[in-house]
Amino acid sequence: MGVECFVTGGSGFVGQHLLARLSATGHKTWVLMRNRDHLERLREQVGQLGGNPANIHAVAGDISRDGLGLSEADRQSVSCASVVFHLAAAFSWGLTMERARAVNVQGALRVARLAASLRVRLVMVGGYMVQNFAFLTRIGVDYDCPANTDWPAVYSRVGGYEGSKLESHFAVIRYMQQAGADYTIVHPATVCGHSESGHILAGQPLVELIRNLAQGRFKAVPGSTRHWLPMVSVDYLVTLITCVAFDPLLANRQVLALHEHTPNLQGLLRELAKTLGVKAPQRHVAIGLLRWLAMIPGLAARLEIRAESLNFIQTQRFDMSESEHLERKYRLTQPDMAQTLERTVRYVMAHLPD
Ligand SMILES: NC(=O)c1ccc[n+]([C@@H]2O[C@H](COP(=O)([O-])OP(=O)(O)OC[C@H]3O[C@@H](n4cnc5c(N)ncnc54)[C@H](OP(=O)(O)O)[C@@H]3O)[C@@H](O)[C@H]2O)c1
Repeated sequence: MGVECFVTGGSGFVGQHLLARLSATGHKTWVLMRNRDHLERLREQVGQLGGNPANIHAVAGDISRDGLGLSEADRQSVSCASVVFHLAAAFSWGLTMERARAVNVQGALRVARLAASLRVRLVMVGGYMVQNFAFLTRIGVDYDCPANTDWPAVYSRVGGYEGSKLESHFAVIRYMQQAGADYTIVHPATVCGHSESGHILAGQPLVELIRNLAQGRFKAVPGSTRHWLPMVSVDYLVTLITCVAFDPLLANRQVLALHEHTPNLQGLLRELAKTLGVKAPQRHVAIGLLRWLAMIPGLAARLEIRAESLNFIQTQRFDMSESEHLERKYRLTQPDMAQTLERTVRYVMAHLPD
């Protein structure tokens, strides 16, 4: 039976697919929208993704404002929600620490406060780098005692987006524990398109990567043959999110959404290049060198090197036992990655021209 849900970030890439899934399965869903005038367009997009537009309703607000900027009437509307899904984020490179904190940390805490006040579960979408413990140590995050972390120093090492995603993770858990409220966090890898339609939105990191490859900007493969950029398809991610949201055993747990058999970066670029009909880079270039080049004023922009995006290219493998357990429990299977990548490239070429 359907329940009422409250979703932040519903107009975003993952959010649209989540709305499609929730509304198609009979859940009446309240979406926090910065611009409520976009509701009809959102309903149309959700309908195209297989959702039921009639189940989508909007409340006006902004997570960077006190009380999420909700009017009293809208606060009343969302008070019937049985689950709060938090996906909204300022998701771009080059964010200042102030801006990233205001939206991604303080905003997440405001959503957590709402869930705790309603005494319902908060389902938050985090990011998989929080489970790369070697990375956390290297950038100065104290995993065992996060309060000891010098966050401004972390932001200066990894940039506003990743710094704020990590800080919000620990801040939200701490808040929910103190409030005695339930949370579940899903940590996706870089999200690729829908495994059948290839649907993806402009602005996603994978779209940027595909365009750079198409335009011949990849002269070499960053890192070695051990480096990879873990991926997950948006449909698998959304299925996992909805499974854990309603599972009593997943209260106060975290789960990774990541396709362990994503090819290494060289293989990934080869797959994408094959569909694009361009040559894949053969040689390798050290990530340290790219980071150094990115620091030279003007050069980073000319070579299209985003220092922040290099953090996600790594040699780390992840403990997938919790996700594998859930896959068995819910009979989930990860879609074939090569096919999903091919469909994503075709979607980008057909629908997202530069
Ligand atoms: N996509 C990935 O590869 C990836 C990987 C790991 C984790 N994640 C995480 O997954 C979540 C969803 O990502 P996505 O790719 O779907 O992001 P996205 O497409 O960039 O969408 C971001 C969403 O956040 C909303 N938003 C931004 N600032 C807001 C504010 N101040 N108040 C209210 N809403 C605000 C946007 O609304 P507007 O329409 O008003 O702009 C939009 O709906 C994020 O938390 C992201 O950090 C994503």
